[in-house]
Amino acid sequence: MSVLVTGGAGYIGSHVVRLLQERGEDVVVVDDLSNGKPERVGNAVLETFDLSDADATVKLGALMLKHEVDAVIHFAALKQIGESMERPLWYYKANVEGMRHLIGAMQDAGVKTMVFSSSAGTYGQPDVDMITEKTPCQPINPYGQTKLIGEWMLDNAARFGMNSIKLRYFNVAGAGAPELRDTAMMNLVPIVYNRLLAGQDVVINGDDYPTPDGTCVRDYVHVVDLAEAHLVALDRLRGIRSGTAEPLAQTVFNAGNGIGYSVREVIDAISPVIGRTLDPVVGPRREGDPPRLVADASAITEVLGWKASRTLEDMVRSACPPELLAGHRGEKDGDVEQ
Ligand SMILES: NC(=O)c1ccc[n+]([C@@H]2O[C@H](COP(=O)([O-])OP(=O)(O)OC[C@H]3O[C@@H](n4cnc5c(N)ncnc54)[C@H](O)[C@@H]3O)[C@@H](O)[C@H]2O)c1
Repeated sequence: MSVLVTGGAGYIGSHVVRLLQERGEDVVVVDDLSNGKPERVGNAVLETFDLSDADATVKLGALMLKHEVDAVIHFAALKQIGESMERPLWYYKANVEGMRHLIGAMQDAGVKTMVFSSSAGTYGQPDVDMITEKTPCQPINPYGQTKLIGEWMLDNAARFGMNSIKLRYFNVAGAGAPELRDTAMMNLVPIVYNRLLAGQDVVINGDDYPTPDGTCVRDYVHVVDLAEAHLVALDRLRGIRSGTAEPLAQTVFNAGNGIGYSVREVIDAISPVIGRTLDPVVGPRREGDPPRLVADASAITEVLGWKASRTLEDMVRSACPPELLAGHRGEKDGDVEQ
């Protein structure tokens, strides 16, 4: 038996691949390496192709039979909101076609279990204090739309026996190991570190929002906590631990922390990690940034027994490039000492 992890060479997927391997599972990764790194998958089988290719269903089906796949964790997707607005059909092809091929292959190969990476982007910009799974989904960009469609496709696949859990992620940060760090500059923490590495000012986009310190508030979850949530979901679908693989009444869960941190709080948390006080520059608001997006994560705790446990400090410290860590001695320092 093995687990197929699509997008397993990516940031979050590679953390799940590692946890699966650490508990002795055989893992097969499919990743087109458009944003993944092969060195992240350890000794997993890595097949490099695009899930949205016309022949992907056939390739995936053959792979599932060959490796006796019994469950799929589906991360592979394009994920940049701005890009999705510029090239919506490309996003539909990658994310929706990719999902269609994957579900089709699972149906052909008789694989009925999937954990799916969904997103808080499915909600859009709800004007609520805490977002629950019952908060209406009104995605405001093609990226969020493709994630919601992916959820619907899985719900429809339940008619032919698909047993799925969709995890809606919020802001993911941190790293379980230095080589698995998020290198894409799309989320606040890597953006700050990349600016520091480049010797640039740290920028806050707007400090006049209706929040306690005026900066946007988001729900941040440590990537290792999130990776563990996938294993908990997978085990529930396979009937491990709970003793039942019966379909759940609820299959969509917010995989958040339930705690909102402001942009300024996140930047302040970075200062002790790098050993100097950051003095961010305040720039204009970014278009379309809602003041607050925080998950009510109580359902996943109640139903699946998962709760994020790592702190903001854990996230920013583990995400920090070694050369920025307080006390780090670079080559230059070493030279001086000699
Ligand atoms: N990072 C976040 O904060 C966040 C938040 C919400 C949801 N998500 C979702 O989580 C999943 C993983 O995100 P991530 O941050 O690890 O992104 P990532 O880009 O690091 O990982 C995605 C992986 O999928 C691969 N991939 C993309 N399209 C593919 C395709 N068509 N065929 C085969 N492989 C393909 C990429 O090469 C990459 O390795 C995505 O589905 C994303 O939408 C991420």
